Amino acid sequence: MSDNTANTGDMGGHEEPTRRDFLYLATGMTAVVGAGAVAWPFIDQMRPDASTLAQASIEVNVSALEQGQSLTVKWRGKPVFIRNRTEKEIEEAQAVSLDDLKDPVARNQNLPGDAQATDVDRSAGADKENWIVMIGTCTHLGCVPLGQAGDFGGWFCPCHGSHYDTAGRIRKGPAPENLHIPPYAFSSDDVITIG
Ligand code: FES
Repeated sequence: MSDNTANTGDMGGHEEPTRRDFLYLATGMTAVVGAGAVAWPFIDQMRPDASTLAQASIEVNVSALEQGQSLTVKWRGKPVFIRNRTEKEIEEAQAVSLDDLKDPVARNQNLPGDAQATDVDRSAGADKENWIVMIGTCTHLGCVPLGQAGDFGGWFCPCHGSHYDTAGRIRKGPAPENLHIPPYAFSSDDVITIG
């Protein structure tokens, strides 16, 4: 017997989603704005379980985030950091030579795998270089780093002392790679679609 039985009003083979399914969907999308319009028809058809929800794209309205502010959202069970960086943070990241990087690869799923970890290729691009979007798990053993901390003013993982710079690049400590960048795009000036 499926675990979903309690969530359905139809015990036959053609099961319809119930209000409880919808509430589960709605409460499962913490801190997400406007995720329903696109996701619902697919989920309505498939009857969601946890794995289906985990694959969903999310839309995040970032209009309230001023420069110097960050937001953490949950996507596929992981934290995703969204930061509207200050001019100082951008300048510091731009000033770093690739030769000084422990991991010179961009780790940006929106770019070819061999793209280099320049600031522009770690950010949302030349016209949106203030924005950076990264999966918020340390590339050492997966702790969630603290923002605006550590020796390079970016992110600091206190578990074993990994320091990331303001472009999320590993600069010191045991983590082997830069913080990873998920697939995402600005679907409007104020909305980022992740996934
Ligand atoms: S998990 Fe971050 S330094 Fe070990």
